[in-house]
Amino acid sequence: MAVIVQLVQGIQGLAGKLLDPSNFGSIITTTLLALVILLVVTQLQQVLFKDKNAPPEVHYWIPYLGSAIDFSLNPIEFYAKNRAKYGDVFTYTMVGRKFTVCLGVEGNNFVFNAKLADVSAEESYKPLTTPVFGKGVVYDCPNHMLMEQKRFVKWGMSNDAFRAYVPQIVEETEDYFKRWNNETGGRADVFTAMAELIINTASRTLMGPEIRAIMDESVAQLYHDLDDGFQPINMFFEWLPLPSYARRDSAHVKMRNIFMKVIEQRRANNETHHTDMLQSLMNQTYKDGTPFTDKDAGHLMIALLMAGQHTSSTSATWGLLYLAQNPELIERLLEEQKDVLGSVDAPLTFDALKNMTLLDNVVRETLRLRPPIIMILRKVVRPVVFPGSNYVIPKGNYVAASPLATQVDEQYFKDAMKFNPDRWDSLKKEEDIGDDGIDFGFGKVAGAGGARNPSLPFGAGRHRCIGEPFAYVQIKTILATFVRMYDIRLTEKGLPEPDFTKMFVQPKLPVEIDYKPRK
Ligand code: HEM
Repeated sequence: MAVIVQLVQGIQGLAGKLLDPSNFGSIITTTLLALVILLVVTQLQQVLFKDKNAPPEVHYWIPYLGSAIDFSLNPIEFYAKNRAKYGDVFTYTMVGRKFTVCLGVEGNNFVFNAKLADVSAEESYKPLTTPVFGKGVVYDCPNHMLMEQKRFVKWGMSNDAFRAYVPQIVEETEDYFKRWNNETGGRADVFTAMAELIINTASRTLMGPEIRAIMDESVAQLYHDLDDGFQPINMFFEWLPLPSYARRDSAHVKMRNIFMKVIEQRRANNETHHTDMLQSLMNQTYKDGTPFTDKDAGHLMIALLMAGQHTSSTSATWGLLYLAQNPELIERLLEEQKDVLGSVDAPLTFDALKNMTLLDNVVRETLRLRPPIIMILRKVVRPVVFPGSNYVIPKGNYVAASPLATQVDEQYFKDAMKFNPDRWDSLKKEEDIGDDGIDFGFGKVAGAGGARNPSLPFGAGRHRCIGEPFAYVQIKTILATFVRMYDIRLTEKGLPEPDFTKMFVQPKLPVEIDYKPRK
């Protein structure tokens, strides 16, 4: 008790001194002195306590923040500048954590195919994902369970499901653009349009018609609250008492309950005709007999919603921007539709989309230049040697891969910054698995050979994206429908720059295009 009284008195005394104007001068002097000491200690630490076996470290001045500002302004320039100085593997500090980036095709392969005993995706992403997705799924369970969850998801992404989805996505797209000026055309915010259209089409197809029916009333708001809690700040400070954190937690519970209620109703009504993801997650069991519960299904549905939204909507936005920059491609896409379908009025189908090579190449090239995820992270759980070097990456560091670095490297792509979908006619595609494919439990993905492909917007190895086929169907259907409806051009502002401060790299806002209706 006496200790508490003393502590309170001490705090009162300190507060009194701080608030007394006669002490202001000495407070400023003390603060400045403390800052100088902190700066000197930060510099000495970097010089005196160097780990000789660890990769070289980027020098920084600001304690704790380290290179955070430099990095987030333009990670690509940051990597290029330091790569020239230190080589493909180096460490930088951000918000008190050490990130060892491994560049180049060897770096990609090292991070994507690292052993589970050496690195952990769960340890890196969990603070961000668990409060949003919920417990027991994705990064809140042992890796072998995630691999099985990916198998359940894959089951819901069959060609038959996609055949059903394409007309639904067309209908949603045509419906959405009724709000644009279809008499004279005009200028429109294409970023917002794609964000809304992606969530509408994902809910209509993957999530289920029941979710689409309440999208405009409740689900859109819940999604926004979840999304506000899915930002870089949540990854670094999982405990902040901010209102957005409370809104996120409440939205999580409401969203999960919505999914669970739909499952309950489908069961009660014996509805078995649905082709969507929710249906495929309703009756799954892990190989060891553990049931995949309705609560797990609700959580995994939230994970899929979040994983697919920004990634696909920013990609669709960039795709349209590149088409607006290269209008001759729009004409060629229409010609391709005529070739494959006989007319641009014939209904789009999944099988027809598969034969539209240029359309496929437009999406592929968009993802090469503007992949939404530019940093893939794993936490080092035991010291690991970077192959072919003497570098030992210490436990506790994060290893980072940045496929974007190889995707815009002249060594692999001539005129790398130019949008040229035709280059893919002669290049090896990412999904060409090759002879060394590996099955981690959800179907074969490329092994070390494929992970050395310089373009990996969907990652590689055990954590490779499970949503790629859906994303391609969704984006291709939207683009194909859009070019039937409108001719588009960039505004006088030209192509927007990427905004790297966002978790999923998006164009700097506002993102407008000029459009003219065709009919
Ligand atoms: C993982 C990219 C769309 C579901 C990933 C990863 C990348 C990626 C790079 C690997 C992360 C890592 O290794 O740490 C993309 C891009 C998309 C897209 C570029 C669209 C253009 C989707 C969609 C879904 C989805 C539509 C679901 C419907 C997932 C899931 C994972 C994942 C569940 C986690 C897999 C794991 O850790 O094992 N995505 N994604 N993604 N993606 Fe996607």
